[in-house]
Amino acid sequence: LGSELGHIVCIGAGYVGGPTCSVIAFKCPHIQVTIVDLNQARIDAWNDPEFNLPIYEPGLVDVVKACRGRNLFFSTEVDKGIAEADLIFVSVNTPTKKSGLGAGFAADLNYIELATRRIAEVSTSSKIVVEKSTVPCRTAESMRTILEANAKPGCNFDILSNPEFLAEGTAIEDLFAPDRVLIGSLQTASGKSACESLANVYANWIPRDRILSVGLWSSELSKLAANAMLAQRISSVNALSAVCEATGANIDEVAYAIGKDSRLGSKFLKASVGFGGSCFQKDILNLVYLCESLHLPAVAKYWHAVVEMNEHQKDRFSKKVVDTMFNTITGKKIAVLGFAFKKDTGDTRESAAITLVNHFRAERAHVSIYDPEVTESTIMLDLTNYGEIPAESVQKNVKVAKTAEDACYGSNAVVIATEWDEFKTLDWQKIYDSMDKPAFVFDGRLILDREALIKIGFKVTTIGTGAL
Ligand code: UDX
Ligand code: UDX
Ligand code: ADP
Repeated sequence: LGSELGHIVCIGAGYVGGPTCSVIAFKCPHIQVTIVDLNQARIDAWNDPEFNLPIYEPGLVDVVKACRGRNLFFSTEVDKGIAEADLIFVSVNTPTKKSGLGAGFAADLNYIELATRRIAEVSTSSKIVVEKSTVPCRTAESMRTILEANAKPGCNFDILSNPEFLAEGTAIEDLFAPDRVLIGSLQTASGKSACESLANVYANWIPRDRILSVGLWSSELSKLAANAMLAQRISSVNALSAVCEATGANIDEVAYAIGKDSRLGSKFLKASVGFGGSCFQKDILNLVYLCESLHLPAVAKYWHAVVEMNEHQKDRFSKKVVDTMFNTITGKKIAVLGFAFKKDTGDTRESAAITLVNHFRAERAHVSIYDPEVTESTIMLDLTNYGEIPAESVQKNVKVAKTAEDACYGSNAVVIATEWDEFKTLDWQKIYDSMDKPAFVFDGRLILDREALIKIGFKVTTIGTGAL
């Protein structure tokens, strides 16, 4: 069942489409894979002769090196790509709407719609169209309607939903050995056959029992549900971290004890300064909007609380910094170590560090930031809210340092915002000697050896632990 696919095209060379389709090309040398994007600079970076790719992911460069020019191509020729393809992944951006109906909650499906219309316009043969971006339920249905209304005679389109579950920083690992691949299709003969064609692609390296076929809407909802439940675990553990701080219990011990229950499992129970990333908040707000549209306000409220708790955690941590430093940080120097939303990525979307630095700026502190992967220009874009705030006003009290030690030099406090491994092995004695006294450390990621720091002389505050 299902036809052999010779040519796969991916529309959108971003965090999802780029790595996913590079791995397909790597694992399926008999399939030609072309990744297209309207953004010339992004495509140029994917084609960079020195392999300075637009995305930092461990292992990605090796995958691209192995197949670029062989059966993997990056191009801005979107129409040509569509025309040649048997199967098209739609992996364009779906940001949260900034205005209009559902502003702040609903996904902006404009990019999906434009890409879908382009497919209908350019296609002269039948194709399988795969929704790969995270989208609200029933987007596939809208795509189908657009394609059918605009299809040329003789062109049939089968729509599949194939959500991506990779996490940033481990994208290649996750793509090589996923827990599961989920494919949703209409339960018609043609829908099932399209599903099988895509399953055959993944079967080149993934065991069949990990390739799940479900209905279109189940597939779409599963993606939102998985992210909502993962985020909910973090908000739950973060809520408990507040109880720990107030009682003297230790959140790492509590999480360890909880995680031993096989019904709960030990993963995703690390308390933090708050979750970030492009998916969790966006997907939950999508789910909230969906529930409200379906007249399920109690359900919407339940999921919204996960995001509210995350905001609360960031606010609570910032307040703790101010309170601990004698109720004022005005004019004080605060070093923020880490700006990415988690370690091993240069991505800062929804990073908790952005909120923290904004709070510190509002208190008129001087902030120096160091992150091993995030560039100064990205930090400035985030802190100016993409140009909304004048850069000069941000630069007045924010500096970006080249090393962690530089960032900490002469500061009153060090705040750990991202769990980069290198922060664990810094020369903390040297940092202490270079700081103003009393020297404070605020560990927002529970990665530092608290007792060793206290021995050096630091005043240490850790998320989820009471006073020692
Ligand atoms: C997430 C999902 O894991 C992935 O399956 C989905 O496809 C996309 O969204 P990602 O956002 O890349 O992936 O990273 P993830 O590792 O899930 O971390 C998200 C945020 O939660 C980070 O800010 C991380 O630091 C935080 N986190 C994670 C915690 O605070 N505690 C934890 O125990 C785990
Ligand atoms: C629970 C805890 O499981 C146990 O570890 C603790 O010591 C006491 O509380 P118990 O109340 O006996 O045990 O039963 P449990 O099997 O956990 O079920 C509790 C309720 O949840 C039941 O009404 C059950 O029907 C319901 N449930 C459980 C679901 O609705 N869905 C599930 O997937 C699991
Ligand atoms: P994600 O994290 O979902 O992969 P990104 O924003 O990283 O999202 O990437 C989406 C990419 O899709 C961007 O590079 C954008 O230029 C591209 N894109 C958006 N609309 C179109 C379109 N109609 N045709 C081609 N590329 C598009």
